Amino acid sequence: MNILLASSELFPFSKTGGLADMVAALARALANEGHEARVVTPLYRGIREKFPAMRKVDWHFDLPLGASWVSAELWELDVARGLKIYFIDHPGYFDRAGIYQENHFSYADNAERYIFFSKCVVHLARYLPWRPDVIHGHDWQAGLIPALILQQKNAGWQNPPPSCLTIHNLAYQGVFPAAAYALTNLPEDFFHTEGAEFFGLLNCLKAGIAFADFITTVSPRYAREITTEEYGCGLDGLLRRRQKQLVGILNGVDYGEWNTTKNPHLFKPYSVGRLTGKEINKLKLQKMLGLPADESVPLFGTISRLAEQKGVDIQLGALSEMLNTKMQFVLLGSGSPEFERGYRELARQFPGKIAVRFGYDETLAHRIEAACDFFLMPSRFEPCGLNQMYSLRYGTIPIVRATGGLDDSVVDWTQNPKLATGIKFSDYTARALAKSIRKALVLYGQPKLLANCRRNAMRADFSWERTVHDYLAVYQRLTGV
Ligand code: ADP
Ligand code: GLC
Repeated sequence: MNILLASSELFPFSKTGGLADMVAALARALANEGHEARVVTPLYRGIREKFPAMRKVDWHFDLPLGASWVSAELWELDVARGLKIYFIDHPGYFDRAGIYQENHFSYADNAERYIFFSKCVVHLARYLPWRPDVIHGHDWQAGLIPALILQQKNAGWQNPPPSCLTIHNLAYQGVFPAAAYALTNLPEDFFHTEGAEFFGLLNCLKAGIAFADFITTVSPRYAREITTEEYGCGLDGLLRRRQKQLVGILNGVDYGEWNTTKNPHLFKPYSVGRLTGKEINKLKLQKMLGLPADESVPLFGTISRLAEQKGVDIQLGALSEMLNTKMQFVLLGSGSPEFERGYRELARQFPGKIAVRFGYDETLAHRIEAACDFFLMPSRFEPCGLNQMYSLRYGTIPIVRATGGLDDSVVDWTQNPKLATGIKFSDYTARALAKSIRKALVLYGQPKLLANCRRNAMRADFSWERTVHDYLAVYQRLTGV
């Protein structure tokens, strides 16, 4: 089958979060299964220099955008058999210091940038000599693709491929003033409450939910949650109406990237049968981050965007209570300046117990996963979450709030001590999280139980070889192939 994927970020070319990892791994898994996957993504600053093997395609976009015409070039890179990446080259839109924002301010022209991106995807789908059987867009940045396909179908595109939209996070919808709708050049009658309109504004994700032939999201529990008012971010009504075309598929992990045996980022390799390497990673990281190097102190870690979603407020509360006990904590994060201040303050209060690093650092992310005994992920909501699954493979026991994909991927120690892979709690409070940290300390004091939990965690299998079949089933249902 030929699958055209569209994503505003793609590992290793660009990344702000799990979206980049997920699309890259899904595309690779499809190719590994013998299908042909091609991914369209913007050519952001620095990509061409880092990947000199990419070639310019003899292709030129000249597309209407409101009252103007906008041009762009196309580059391509073959990354594996059956896997090609297309890069949309428009320096005015994409050759910038950030992907969506700079200095915590979103770019003022994000509507224009991603409407144009979506138009390029549809144009490629229609005019490339290579014909996709299905178009699979991700998140609001690709949300307008199904409506654009429908528009072209109404104007004479015969048998366009069916479209699938994956919602990675309902909290980001791409909502813009109604005036931005003119940039889509879509007909007026797509701008209504069952279409692209949301309280008088343009909502790109809503347009995707309304017009896509099929909708997926990234865990079964989140698929249920988003049809409720509590988690529906104002779109639960529409999602309920589309429930028959909505399914939750838990993300997989690219174990080629996230593993402990062949990983250039780690200080020392280790495996479920040879755990001494994990201790060395712990001692080296403690030293590197200026913490007392002591393997007997339980080490907790978090790697995260510092956003409301991630439960930063309850985490700060729980840590300020628990850091008086024998434990250490490391954080790698970036995001809200207010949350960064919170962690800096905590670090001042507990010198020698906590190390915080702000910014984006792929190597440090792997090292923290490898070094820690426990990983904290107390999200308010979590569509899937990848870090808890990376933690499992690294033998780093995840402590998670039972929501979305966190609930679907971790087996709780209290509920099932024998098969446990982590610790779960339900109430969104600092107290409930502190209680889970206390449980972790108890577990840490019982080496046999800890070893059992670690073994279960490291053996859990979230590989894409399994998950990819759920996506193929969706594509097959759409194409009848
Ligand atoms: P989300 O996509 O909501 O941010 P996920 O858990 O799905 O959450 O994915 C987060 C991804 O981003 C993981 O691969 C994680 O390691 C990475 N990540 C988050 N923050 C940082 C950071 N500051 N430095 C390096 N990697 C980070
Ligand atoms: C989003 C979600 C996260 C998910 C990721 C990849 O960023 O916040 O939970 O793991 O997408 O699907």
